[in-house]
Parts: sequence; structure tokens; C-alpha cells
Amino acid sequence: MPVPPTSGRLQWTDVPTALRARLEDALGAPVTDTVTPGGGFGHQLAAALRLADGRRAFVKAAPDDDPLTAANVHEAAVLDALPPGAPAPKLLGIHHAANWTAVVIAHLDGPHPDLSPASGDAGQTWALLDKLTSSPAPAPYAKAVSTTPSTAAGLHGWDELLRDPPADLAPAARDRLPQLAELEAAWPALARGNRIVHGDLRADNMVRDRHLGVTFVDWAHATTGPACIDAASLAPQLVLAGHAPADIARLLCDHPATATNPDATTAFLTALTGHWHRNARKPAPPAPPDCAPTSTAPPPRASPSSATA
Ligand SMILES: Nc1ncnc2c1ncn2[C@@H]1O[C@H](COP(=O)(O)OP(=O)(O)OP(=O)(O)O)[C@@H](O)[C@H]1O
Ligand SMILES: [Mg+2]
Repeated sequence: MPVPPTSGRLQWTDVPTALRARLEDALGAPVTDTVTPGGGFGHQLAAALRLADGRRAFVKAAPDDDPLTAANVHEAAVLDALPPGAPAPKLLGIHHAANWTAVVIAHLDGPHPDLSPASGDAGQTWALLDKLTSSPAPAPYAKAVSTTPSTAAGLHGWDELLRDPPADLAPAARDRLPQLAELEAAWPALARGNRIVHGDLRADNMVRDRHLGVTFVDWAHATTGPACIDAASLAPQLVLAGHAPADIARLLCDHPATATNPDATTAFLTALTGHWHRNARKPAPPAPPDCAPTSTAPPPRASPSSATA
């Protein structure tokens, strides 16, 4: 397996010639330029290709013995099975050559959404989630994710913090540790559901496309579950982006994705915050130089997909 370059991600020139040729053949034009978006945590190729005729396509690729290839193939199956109108780019194809696999996805044109109160992007994201989770996942989607375990279901942390409370735990949390551990203990039984769950929803896994508006990318962790998971996982991110916690609490009570199941929403948010409080006290994981977290970003891998039970 090639060693990831210091930029943190494999580049187009790291892809075996046979696979590059296969992709150019399938796309119908030579690749003239590639742009690797900044940020993210993966080491695979994830790049926008510009073709000689001006079209663009997004490609994710890795060697077949890299675990990210299985994740990319899962993402491709999910993209192919999402219902019409889902906020996701279209799958254009999967290609194999030289023991590598590439997934080609329609290119989205725009920045990550701005989740701050000054922008309408957060409201648009909630509306998308309300719509996406308003009915059960269609059968092809449920089949595509049927073998994928829900990492969100394994979230916890208050149980461990209750057993050994850290000295630096905020008094508001310390005083409520038994209650938090009890709420969290209810989560696994409430984590089942038949709605579409993206499972890793963060601003850097969304693009505000100039034609489609806010669109979710990186569906590698998609599963089924209760409607609240993606919407509730946004709550702490919105607070980090400058929203008042009281406003977010009102949103959780008002939006169908969360309001229809307040017990699951509360249990999920308790398990998620327990996970963060516990994991934030562990040593930082190694990160490539250009992927170092900034002071304003959410904790690395703080989303449900990062669960390490
Ligand atoms: N279809 C697309 N069109 C344009 N840009 C995209 C598209 N899909 C993803 N991106 C951009 O590329 C970045 C990396 O893509 P993605 O998140 O799918 O890769 P990943 O390696 O699975 O990510 P992570 O680093 O979060 O594990 C995204 O943060 C986004 O900025
Ligand atoms: Mg991503």
C-alpha cells in the first residue's frame, strides 16, 4: 500500500496508471487538473477532477487492501439507493484496476455551508433532515445498509465518568453524573429505527452547491435509525458556530426530526456528549500537518461515526 504523502491525502498521481486510464476512458476525456479539498481526516484520494472538455467529477480512491475502499464501496451503494430528491450527489460509477478501486461521484460546486446564525444554511439543513426522515427509508436503501452496524448506537461516556469523575469536569455535569449516566443507558434501546441516517453530518461533509443548495456528502457511515440522530448531532455544532444554546433547544423541540421522538433525542444527545467528554480527555490522535484541528472546529472525529464504545 502506498504511504500517504505528507499532505495527508493520496493525490491523483499516486493512483496507478491503469486506474487513471480506466477513469479517463469512463469519463470520456483526459483529466487536466485536480483539486483536493482541504480539511477532513481521510488519507485516500478525494479530489475534484477537471476534464479537458471543462466538465468536473469527484473521485474517491484507495488500494483494495485499505479499509477506506470498503467504506467507499458502501458509500457508492448508499448513493445509488437513496430516494429521489435526497440531498446527495449522484453516483457516476465504480472502477477497479491494479488492485485499486475508485468511486466517481457528481461534482458539487460551492463551499461548505456556513452554520452560523448569520447564514440561512443551518435552517436549510434542518429542513432537509425533516424531509429526509419524514418517512421510512426505501427498501433499496435499507438493503444497502443492512450489514452496516450503527456506530451511533454504541455511543456512551457518562458511565465511565461516573465511575471515576475527572477533577476538571464542569460542576454542572459533575452534579448530574448519575442522571446523565441513566439517560445515556437508555440510548441503545432507543437507537433502532427505520429512517435514513447519514451518520457523520458536519459542515465539512456538506457542500452548498450553487444549483442544488446544501447537499450532504461522505455517506460512508450511512445506516438506518431513529429520525433524530443527524439533526441532534448538529446541535453542538450549531452552538460552536455561534447559536445560543437556548435557541438550539427550541429548534430541537420544534423540528419534526427531533420533536417526534424527544426521549430518543435526549438519550442520543446525552450519549453523544458523554462520548465527547470521555474522549476529549484522551491523548489527541496523530493528524497530518495540514489536517491539524483549528481552535474553532468541533473536536476531531466528534461525530457519531467516531464512536469508540
Ligand atoms: N461530490 C463532491 N463534489 C465536490 N466536493 C466534494 C464532493 N464530495 C466531497 N467533496 C469535498 O471533498 C471533501 C472530502 O470528501 P469526503 O468527505 O467524501 O472524503 P473522506 O475522505 O471520506 O472524508 P473524511 O476526511 O471526512 O473522512 C469534503 O469535505 C468536501 O469538501
Ligand atoms: Mg468527509
